[in-house]
Amino acid sequence: MGFTTIVIALFIYIIWDVNYFIRCVFTLGFAQFFQRKRKISEMTSIYGLCTTQDVDIFIRHMNNARYVRELDFARFHYYGLTGIYSEIKSMGGGAVQGASSVRYRRTIPIFNFYKITTELIWWDEKAIYLQQKFITFDGFVRAIAMSKQNITKVNVMDLMKKFEGGQKRPEQPEELRMWLEALEVASKKLRKDD
Ligand SMILES: *[C@@H]1O[C@H](CO)[C@@H](O)[C@H](O)[C@H]1NC(C)=O
Repeated sequence: MGFTTIVIALFIYIIWDVNYFIRCVFTLGFAQFFQRKRKISEMTSIYGLCTTQDVDIFIRHMNNARYVRELDFARFHYYGLTGIYSEIKSMGGGAVQGASSVRYRRTIPIFNFYKITTELIWWDEKAIYLQQKFITFDGFVRAIAMSKQNITKVNVMDLMKKFEGGQKRPEQPEELRMWLEALEVASKKLRKDD
């Protein structure tokens, strides 16, 4: 490799989060070519390792921002395996994260492997709601997250009807109902200020 190539690679690494893109391509490619498709009601899993890139200032365990980043990869993977995202796209819509709430129960120490599970827990006209868990090999749920994924330009009720198991909504979990109420209260306050 020439000196120029190294400088260019270094430059790209500095101005872009290259690892993010590599991880996306790898995770989605693996789902596409090596894994069976899933129903929307099925739980999906990806695996991760807490590396030197993920740790906090004391170099002991995963820093809290890193969890949210990992949740994205797990979500893209779920979208890939279930085909939800390509359906949204074909209906002319898109998806953006509307809210998320992470509860950190116990740290993930450096060089520990973990699994992230992703599960669709509910949906309404405008959004889908996912529950995701970080589980280490001792079976302990280190962190649990709920997220609201806004689906734009598509009625989610219509979208879900196209999938096996999407005709009937699961019962809304109590913690989700209360969280959505909290979001509504917080949102009203800001609207007042605007
Ligand atoms: C997500 O949807 C809610 C309404 O359900 C809306 O208030 C919010 O602005 C949306 N967020 C984004 C980033 O589009």
